Amino acid sequence: MYEPRGNGVFSVHRLMIDAAHQNQGIGSWSMRLVMDTIVGLGGETIYLSFRPKNIVAKRLFEKFGFVFHEREPDGEVVYRFGPARDIET
Ligand SMILES: CC(C)(COP(=O)(O)OP(=O)(O)OC[C@H]1O[C@@H](n2cnc3c(N)ncnc32)[C@H](O)[C@@H]1OP(=O)(O)O)[C@@H](O)C(=O)NCCC(=O)NCCS
Repeated sequence: MYEPRGNGVFSVHRLMIDAAHQNQGIGSWSMRLVMDTIVGLGGETIYLSFRPKNIVAKRLFEKFGFVFHEREPDGEVVYRFGPARDIET
């Protein structure tokens, strides 16, 4: 689930694969598709967040070039792909 935030910024709110079908490459394939779609729509920066204990998500997003951006008050970590930019909306 992704959302355009203006100024070339997109948020990916959740990437979720059914537990029965995880660890078969579907999450990686889906992330590649989402990122290609966002770039095709003019996206240059993508933000997403997850629980820091979620090592599978962390490794997956780092594999696609995401880096740590900041920690939210609720403890989730925000990761970023592309240059840091403010969200307009
Ligand atoms: C995170 C998630 C989307 C990954 O989807 P997936 O289809 O399992 O991902 P893939 O099969 O493409 O695997 C991605 C990598 O994680 C590894 N991995 C997947 N499941 C794993 C597990 N249970 N234990 C250890 N490693 C695992 C794979 O080996 C792969 O590593 P590699 O890139 O080095 O080969 C999926 O686990 C999920 O939906 N989790 C619940 C929701 C969630 O946490 N979403 C992320 C935050 S929004």
